[in-house]
Amino acid sequence: MRRPRMAAVLCTAALLCAAWVQAEDWGRYAVDGRRSGYTYAAAETRAMQDDEFDNPGSLWLARGAELWQTAEGQAGKSCASCHQEAAASMRGVGARYPVFAPELGRLVNVEQRINQCRREHMGAAPWATESEPLLAMTAYVKHQSLDLPVNPAIDGPAAPFFARGRHIYHTRRGQLDLACIHCHEMNHGNMLRAQRLSEGMSNGFPAYRLKWQTLASLQRRMEGCMRDVRAEPYADGAEEYVDLELYLAWRARGLPVETPAVRN
Ligand code: HEC
Ligand code: HEC
Repeated sequence: MRRPRMAAVLCTAALLCAAWVQAEDWGRYAVDGRRSGYTYAAAETRAMQDDEFDNPGSLWLARGAELWQTAEGQAGKSCASCHQEAAASMRGVGARYPVFAPELGRLVNVEQRINQCRREHMGAAPWATESEPLLAMTAYVKHQSLDLPVNPAIDGPAAPFFARGRHIYHTRRGQLDLACIHCHEMNHGNMLRAQRLSEGMSNGFPAYRLKWQTLASLQRRMEGCMRDVRAEPYADGAEEYVDLELYLAWRARGLPVETPAVRN
């Protein structure tokens, strides 16, 4: 008799119980207490992400696959001319990036690496930030690492950039004088206006944002957060974003690559 009564006290409402049980079991979307934004999303948003026919990001993947085969630029080459099957040649990229590029002496993210290939290997103009082809190709390349655990290198030549990213993450900014940690480490789970704050993980990007009705890069998401605290975002393509991106990848270590995630 004691046990059912205890259960009744603990789970006064069946709904509460369901929420509690669910919160305990996020499977691969929770690693060592760190949770993907997936676990903070509404059930219908998660269902949309999980179903490739419902996930609006699939349109960008299809476009990326098409561009992969399209020859462009003076060299008359496509990505496939050199990299053949993306499923094999690009597997792991989305889990490792950003990486230190010795020839540039700084970090590069996937977007920048793609444009580097366009400039240096194809003789084609780089795609603009947030342009449809760059988002589509970035999503396509990262999607080849779907479900692989995020695992960036933060040591060796990447170490100083990682340290800078960490510093930026902890630096207060804007009229609200808040750092990334204030929302994503100290207040996750709480509501900010109409939104439930997540841990600010990066493993789903580029992600489809329902509010924006489009796929969005991680840079655009971070700019949005900076505007939320009434701070001036960094210039487009600033190194600070890529340093932050490495720090975010480290925070998301072990979580699965979800690109293209669906978020509110
Ligand atoms: C004033 C609170 C606030 C601050 C400060 C803030 N963010 Fe956010 N951030 C949000 C909100 C709200 C969202 C959307 C809901 C969510 O996922 O938390 C979000 C979402 C994100 C996401 C997407 C998470 C996902 O799973 O889709 C990332 C990444 C992120 N923030 C990074 C940052 C970084 C980096 C900083 C510091 C430069 C920062 N945020 C500062 C409020 C904040
Ligand atoms: C003429 C050949 C050539 C073409 C065309 C080309 N690339 Fe590359 N790509 C390379 C070479 C060479 C490297 C460097 C390989 C290395 O670092 O081991 C590279 C590296 C990359 C990487 C980094 C891989 C890694 O493991 O770090 C990505 C991502 C990439 N290319 C994407 C693309 C995309 C997308 C396109 C089409 C828009 C493209 N490339 C077109 C030759 C090419």
